[in-house]
Amino acid sequence: MPRLITLSRAARLVGVKRGALQNKIRAGELRTFEGEILLPDLLHAYPQTQVEDTTMLERVEQIMEQAVNKIVRPPDELTDTDTLAARILALSQELAQARNEARRYSDLVAAIKDKFQELAPEVDSTRDEAFSKLRDWFLQALEAAEPADEASEDIIAKEAFLRVMAAQIRILPSGHEFFIEGSDSILEAGLRGGLALSYGCSSGNCGLCKAKVVSGQVKKICPHDYVLTATEKGLGYILTCSNTAVTDVVLEADEALGARDIPYQEIDIRIKKIERPDGRVLILNTKTPRTNRLRFLAGQYLSLQVDGLPAVDCAIASCPCDDMNLQFHLPVVSGNPLIEYLLNNSRQNEVIRITGPHGEFVLNEESPRSLIFIACNAGFGPIKSLIEHAMALDIAEHIHVYWIVTSANSHYQGNLCRSWADALDNFHYTALATDTGSDVKDLLPNIVNDFDDLKNYDCYACIPGTQVETFEAALCGHGVPGKQLHMEPIR
Ligand code: FES
Repeated sequence: MPRLITLSRAARLVGVKRGALQNKIRAGELRTFEGEILLPDLLHAYPQTQVEDTTMLERVEQIMEQAVNKIVRPPDELTDTDTLAARILALSQELAQARNEARRYSDLVAAIKDKFQELAPEVDSTRDEAFSKLRDWFLQALEAAEPADEASEDIIAKEAFLRVMAAQIRILPSGHEFFIEGSDSILEAGLRGGLALSYGCSSGNCGLCKAKVVSGQVKKICPHDYVLTATEKGLGYILTCSNTAVTDVVLEADEALGARDIPYQEIDIRIKKIERPDGRVLILNTKTPRTNRLRFLAGQYLSLQVDGLPAVDCAIASCPCDDMNLQFHLPVVSGNPLIEYLLNNSRQNEVIRITGPHGEFVLNEESPRSLIFIACNAGFGPIKSLIEHAMALDIAEHIHVYWIVTSANSHYQGNLCRSWADALDNFHYTALATDTGSDVKDLLPNIVNDFDDLKNYDCYACIPGTQVETFEAALCGHGVPGKQLHMEPIR
């Protein structure tokens, strides 16, 4: 049987989204075998793949770097030599097995051929027609059997190269997959891959990241205080925050399947920087303690409280893959005590207490549909978090972003959106601004008229609370089924 590879690896090999492969599978253009596909089928579906061209790989890496704005911890430049040696050893063992098998089949074929020749004089070919037919068919089939073509050999070689450079983790029971590069921990790589893995301290103290290795080889990269019992060790349990993958690994691990699986947390974070891109929004950049990071889902919000002031709800504008550096986009409105404090009295490193996270405005990760994001003014904050998460998951075939502002030149992170659109073929960005005297809802035709039919899209909008019903009615009216519509008022 030709070699099977996972969808994630196949997508990397031919430089497409996993969603594009999934669509081909749904359309019957690609066969799957328990979630994996055959290399020859992949090559058949993407005959133009330039396997010797490494720019595709570099581009995918670059896009992912930019897309998720990753700053959890810069991964080590290079995978350490022990890990590389172990991956090469695993590949060599596989190669040795494949060679043995090939030799066995080759010997068998030669033996059958000899047997036909040996028996031929004893068989009366006029009477034993079946024997003659079988022998002729066998000899013809042998002659017609073609050696593997160059493209197949190249793609197999490239797949082996990818396996040395990055191990793949598959999580059970969800089947979610991600890659580990360098000597990142499994937890860090999983968060960066958009997974909501269970964890707490990220530093080997709480045991909440415990997971069971079903197959593959892992390696401890830092000591941990949490003690695994002898039974747990015997069963293959490890801490994902303290181990990396040496070879491809299958893990049984807990994941949050929705907002209700994320625990309520109270953390004292510190102000890192306050930016004022224009008079209407304030960008608050903060940092959690290294051993007490925030676990949340993209699109959720927190209550922020400075000593002596009432708590204020703020949407998180950063990606869950960067759980230490939290960003918030706050609309500058008078009467908001937190805004006034941040503008007039706050200092760098000052403590803000956060509680939460709250909210159900989160991505439907199991949906295969393309995504439409609509943001109005500072509603771009939670939309940005969702976009970064969608990019990390790398599933949506197309991502369309519409950002409406009610004051000219107020797309304060328009450059970021344009850089995403430049880097990703499937990312489409449209900046919209209301004219004097017009309203946010007047721009709805500029969005819905871009699509013939909206029934195959998931739509996420963060707009003023007063506009939610109007947008909902208009988007449903243009075909978005209610359950695919996710609306959130700007906080
Ligand atoms: S996250 Fe706490 S021990 Fe791993």
